[in-house]
Amino acid sequence: MAEPTKPSPGEYMLIRSNAESERLEKQFRAWQANIGYLLHPAIIQHDHMRIADVGTGTGIWLRELAGVVPATCELDGFDLSDSMFSRDGLPGNIKFYHQNFLEPFPEEFRGKYDVINVRVMVVALAADEWAPAVRNLITLLRPGGYLQWVDCAAHDCVVKVPEGVDGTHAAHYMEKFRTGMIAVGKAPNLGALHGIFQESGLADCEERICPLVNPDTREDINDTVIGGITHFLMAALNRGKIGLVRSTEEVMSLRKSALDDLSHGCYYCFDVHVVVGRKI
Ligand SMILES: C[S@@+](CC[C@H](N)C(=O)[O-])C[C@H]1O[C@@H](n2cnc3c(N)ncnc32)[C@H](O)[C@@H]1O
Repeated sequence: MAEPTKPSPGEYMLIRSNAESERLEKQFRAWQANIGYLLHPAIIQHDHMRIADVGTGTGIWLRELAGVVPATCELDGFDLSDSMFSRDGLPGNIKFYHQNFLEPFPEEFRGKYDVINVRVMVVALAADEWAPAVRNLITLLRPGGYLQWVDCAAHDCVVKVPEGVDGTHAAHYMEKFRTGMIAVGKAPNLGALHGIFQESGLADCEERICPLVNPDTREDINDTVIGGITHFLMAALNRGKIGLVRSTEEVMSLRKSALDDLSHGCYYCFDVHVVVGRKI
């Protein structure tokens, strides 16, 4: 079996496809039903905010935000790729820009934003890329502007198993993901993010940990976890990145067994962290 190879800096380890877009939007809604807000309550809002969503994906967070902030706010999405970004019915105050957020942003964007939002980068960033990413994103903020980062402790995900039910396949599928993430260098300590905010000079840093416990979202969380693991393993397989799985058929067989456990009442459970800090 092939030896694991490290991804290049900033290399994204999920596929970009319609299925992944649908998964991201379902994940967004399931998380929101647990988090309850788009902007952390500490963020002071006004009618002419300029807000960026970095690593915007489909742009779902920006589109939802456009529905709750005045149309006088400017909303900008940045991403390495616009292949998942949905332009259907896009409000006029949302714009998209290509940008790797590990590289310096063009001068026109620096110091211009009231809020920078980042969401779900666990599969995108190597463990040593989080601190440089935070420092780079701070360059976009105006004095007094906020950095908000919403992410999940995917590596700490556990399977809840009802009595008398077999949950070993669902746990095994998660273990493939965890081992694969470590093999490609993407195993962040999300608990360190709050400290990275503080060490980067942000003030009033706050972390809220939100366990995804709303039972109404359990099925969608299961779906999006299974989809995420499948897309990660397929992306890794296609790039010869990890030696954990040999073929698409093997991935599909592992997925089917995990789904079988979930259909008997097992469910994935993990925390979402919301970290916010203000530029002085
Ligand atoms: C897991 S998706 C999350 C998308 C969106 N934030 C959400 O919550 O649904 C990660 C997104 O970040 C983008 N991304 C990954 N690495 C990036 C980088 N270095 N610079 C800019 N975008 C990046 C990917 O292209 C992808 O669209």
